[in-house]
Amino acid sequence: MRERRIGILMNGVTGRMGANQHLMRSIVEIIRQGGVQAGGETIMPVPVLAGRSEERLRPLADRVAEATGGEPPRVTTDIAGAIADPASEIVFDASTTQHRPRVIEMAAEAGKALYCEKPIATTLAEALRLAAVCESSGIKNGVVHDKLWLPGLLKLRGLIERGFFGRILSIRGDFGYWVFSGHDAEQPPQRPSWNYRAEDGGGIISDMYCHWRYVLDGVFGDVCGPVTRLASWANVDLPERIDEQGKAYPATAEDSAYAMFLLGNSVMAQFNSSWCTRVRRDDLLTIQVDGTEGSAVAGLRECCVQTRSDTPRPVWNPDIPQAIDFYEGWTPVEPEAAYDNAFKAQWELFLRHVVADEPFPWSLREGAKGVQLAELGLRASSERAWVDVPELS
Ligand SMILES: NC(=O)c1ccc[n+]([C@@H]2O[C@H](COP(=O)([O-])OP(=O)(O)OC[C@H]3O[C@@H](n4cnc5c(N)ncnc54)[C@H](O)[C@@H]3O)[C@@H](O)[C@H]2O)c1
Repeated sequence: MRERRIGILMNGVTGRMGANQHLMRSIVEIIRQGGVQAGGETIMPVPVLAGRSEERLRPLADRVAEATGGEPPRVTTDIAGAIADPASEIVFDASTTQHRPRVIEMAAEAGKALYCEKPIATTLAEALRLAAVCESSGIKNGVVHDKLWLPGLLKLRGLIERGFFGRILSIRGDFGYWVFSGHDAEQPPQRPSWNYRAEDGGGIISDMYCHWRYVLDGVFGDVCGPVTRLASWANVDLPERIDEQGKAYPATAEDSAYAMFLLGNSVMAQFNSSWCTRVRRDDLLTIQVDGTEGSAVAGLRECCVQTRSDTPRPVWNPDIPQAIDFYEGWTPVEPEAAYDNAFKAQWELFLRHVVADEPFPWSLREGAKGVQLAELGLRASSERAWVDVPELS
């Protein structure tokens, strides 16, 4: 089969998401598996690593060479020059949210296909403007919607398609874990400090409501309808954190948020998102769905179900130890396939979209819906009000 090499300029690749999920677990793995088949060709990614510091890019390039057994990819600190280079057919951005618009605009101007992390911008107006810029320049464009390919959520989606739940009554998502503030020397923070500064595009609402939007639309939308209104509460739980230089800074962005999203007219999807919670549940994200015929709890990989006939009949009696083990009576959903890394799965679809014109509905305009939900979530919280979610034209 003919090999079709495709140059991918990867910006922000020294960061957490860029290095781990996109470069090492997606692009490198695609190279290692021998590319992606599409339209009678084998698409072979050729990454170029872009960032602000050559010193930080070089070791990453060496890691790629070691993992693929090939030459280290080219590195550059000249992002504008690299976007203009005819060898870059795809521009990818995983830098911080505030820097994304400039990269998107440069890619559109140069007529390059554009793929990027979410959120695409910090305001809805900016997100819609960027979607329009891509559309008017006619470039193929896409946004990371990784949670749609989590094995647990794929199993959940399969249950919905098979009508397992009967009528879906409610959805409850619980996301989060403890992100250390940095005050304990032996427990450095696990996330970058900009996440906790509103002025730098941080905040758990901007980060997570984008995900909740496409999960609600993509997994539940067909049967429950779109998100029509929401109520939300945002809070700065830990007002001071320690940055990468060991300096204390005031946390100005919320690190916990609690939302009720109404789907259609009647299905309530309640989502807790917190970086200040300790986990005592099956996984870092769990989504429980209750329906007339059965319920399910999905985590990142696993999904368990309880049918109507397996449903226990508990009796409220705090005077004696609980007689029922509520974890019994749930059955794991068997995998239907060998699941790949969620980011890699979407990368493969984007590569096929660019090379073989296969459909890819997760465009910047779709990504703007997540930014809309985040913006409305912050508004609902500050106004202490239910807010309508208008359809985006
Ligand atoms: N899909 C997901 O599940 C997911 C999860 C976490 C973060 N994200 C998104 O990914 C993006 C990156 O997040 P992260 O956690 O990897 O952050 P990070 O801070 O670890 O990495 C940010 C990257 O951007 C670069 N950068 C920072 N300032 C820059 C500037 N002024 N100019 C150019 N480059 C600059 C950094 O050098 C680094 O390479 C964010 O937009 C975030 O919302 C997505």
